[in-house]
Amino acid sequence: MDFSKARIGFIGFGSMASAICDGLLLKKVVDPSSIYACARNMDRLRERCEQRGINACSNAEEVAKASDIVVIGVLPQQVEAVVKAAADALKGKPIFSIAASIDYTRYVSYLGEGYHHISTIPNTPIAIGEGIIVAESTHSLTPEQLELFEGVFGQIARIEYFSPELLSLGGTGAGCAPAFVDVFIEAMADGLVKNGMTRAQAYKIVPQMMIGTAKYMMESGKHPGELKDAICTPGGTTIVGISALEETGFRNSLIHAIDKIIEKKHSM
Ligand SMILES: NC(=O)c1ccc[n+]([C@@H]2O[C@H](COP(=O)([O-])OP(=O)(O)OC[C@H]3O[C@@H](n4cnc5c(N)ncnc54)[C@H](OP(=O)(O)O)[C@@H]3O)[C@@H](O)[C@H]2O)c1
Repeated sequence: MDFSKARIGFIGFGSMASAICDGLLLKKVVDPSSIYACARNMDRLRERCEQRGINACSNAEEVAKASDIVVIGVLPQQVEAVVKAAADALKGKPIFSIAASIDYTRYVSYLGEGYHHISTIPNTPIAIGEGIIVAESTHSLTPEQLELFEGVFGQIARIEYFSPELLSLGGTGAGCAPAFVDVFIEAMADGLVKNGMTRAQAYKIVPQMMIGTAKYMMESGKHPGELKDAICTPGGTTIVGISALEETGFRNSLIHAIDKIIEKKHSM
């Protein structure tokens, strides 16, 4: 299958949909002329589409008709009305939903049986082709549609499948946690600035340190504890830092943060 000819539609073109679009354009997955988008505010939509050279459509139906795969990029509470209004045009098309908490069962309750959809949660690094798409393993895409979904969006994100019970937790790890990482980078830089480094220098070394450390772990296949131990010389300085992190409950603060997100999701 030639994925470069795929026509991609976005119903809703806010922060996350435009991040996906930017990843597709940056990595030259498809031509801008093959991308279609709609939103409510036409002036803002036209401006955002012109910036990217993509096509602005006046409604969801127009997007669905023009596209080979349709991204549902509206807010979770807007999904039902949007897909119901475009139901005829969506029939037979692969629907790639990015709306948090709108899972397979919820789509069936909105559209009934006979539609082809997959529920996912992507994250913002997809804008530079380094995303994660957490996808629900229960979906109704045909094998060809799944190949199209993976062939196009797999070029800008790692796609990982989770059972329906774990979809939301996967979304927490992939979708919410980039904000934790941003706080980590900022706090590390605060410590370096406090001790005399400029902010600009700190923001050059801390993110690269994180990228390199994460890639090293993934590419070496080593356990993070083993990599940490290799840096901690007996009686040295790094272990003093590790010990100080534990004094202030570093690990537990991250576990606690995940617990609180899950608690909040359950209360919604
Ligand atoms: N932001 C993230 O990091 C993130 C991560 C994972 C998943 N998500 C999911 O991505 C989805 C979008 O989030 P977001 O942060 O991108 O929200 P957003 O910036 O508010 O974007 C929502 C978009 O939907 C459009 N819209 C609303 N009603 C519409 C309608 N009836 N027809 C067509 N377009 C309509 C809005 O248009 P107007 O602006 O013109 O009203 C806007 O372009 C959500 O479901 C969220 O759960 C977001």
